[in-house]
Amino acid sequence: MPMNIDKFARSCDKIYRIVGEPVINGEDVSEQVIRSYYTHSSFYYRKFHSPEGAMHVPVSFADGVPHLHKLQYQARFVESLISRYNYTRVLELGFGMGFNTRYLAQRNPQVQFTGIDLTASNVKRARQKAKNLPNTTFMQDSFDEPEHTSQSYDLIFAVETLCHSKDMAGVLERYAHLLSENGRLVVFDGLKKRPEALPDKISARAYQLLLWGFALERFFTLDDIMNSEKLHSLKFEAVTEYSKNVLPNMLTFQRGAYKALRFPGVLKMLLRLGILPLELIKQIAAGLTSAYFLEKRYLGYYKLVLVKK
Ligand SMILES: C[S@@+](CC[C@H](N)C(=O)[O-])C[C@H]1O[C@@H](n2cnc3c(N)ncnc32)[C@H](O)[C@@H]1O
Repeated sequence: MPMNIDKFARSCDKIYRIVGEPVINGEDVSEQVIRSYYTHSSFYYRKFHSPEGAMHVPVSFADGVPHLHKLQYQARFVESLISRYNYTRVLELGFGMGFNTRYLAQRNPQVQFTGIDLTASNVKRARQKAKNLPNTTFMQDSFDEPEHTSQSYDLIFAVETLCHSKDMAGVLERYAHLLSENGRLVVFDGLKKRPEALPDKISARAYQLLLWGFALERFFTLDDIMNSEKLHSLKFEAVTEYSKNVLPNMLTFQRGAYKALRFPGVLKMLLRLGILPLELIKQIAAGLTSAYFLEKRYLGYYKLVLVKK
């Protein structure tokens, strides 16, 4: 069914009215903002998306497949590389609540898994959930200014987290130095398909909401990464697009956002009273707008596989 643009634009306006234009247009996305976003939104991820603690989109190839199986797609791909190349040391960047690493660590007890994440509450939850997995180590650290850079790894992967980096190519190059011979880096993330902004006003306002909703300063393009002068130590082995496989779930998020926005006055009041956190409105904003930009083919969902030169 084609998207109802009037309804979409009205819903975007509702969010601007609930929160106030200056809040959305004027946010400077610092690490503190990102931390606060994930500290306050992990409850909603568990409640509405994945009780197991996944904080990424499910990848769907057929109807009737359980949601959990679709959420494991990214980790299953990582596992296929572990098996094919006999990798034994794996690092996850931005592990969230530890969903991917926990899945992998349970199934691959001979492999050592390390993870870093910026958000203290996520680190705590990931450790708690993996307390019976001796082959996991979860640390608090930032991939933008890392402190833990002494170990080396066969495989480094990042699911929907490098979009938060200040410089995605720079982060990839930095972590390339921690890779062993024949090591690989895998990224699953949303990327912009064209550098220029969409010209119409509805898209411009919606894009601002999308960035604000995901606590992002920008979306990188594939070209920003593939043609970056900073990327010396890695070469691209594969670039795969999964936009149509994540769209059904994005449309579900959008329907949820429409429902949540039926009573904007109530949301505004609960927000003012401090009963609802601003981060819930951010999630509604992200849920509302992601499908719009995927359908417009302005954003895409990609897997990048890079191999050490
Ligand atoms: C959308 S969640 C994805 C979590 C996990 N990869 C998953 O698939 O469930 C993004 C995660 O990236 C983390 N993050 C954001 N910026 C980071 C940074 N600079 N360094 C490390 N982690 C970061 C956040 O704390 C959050 O847990």
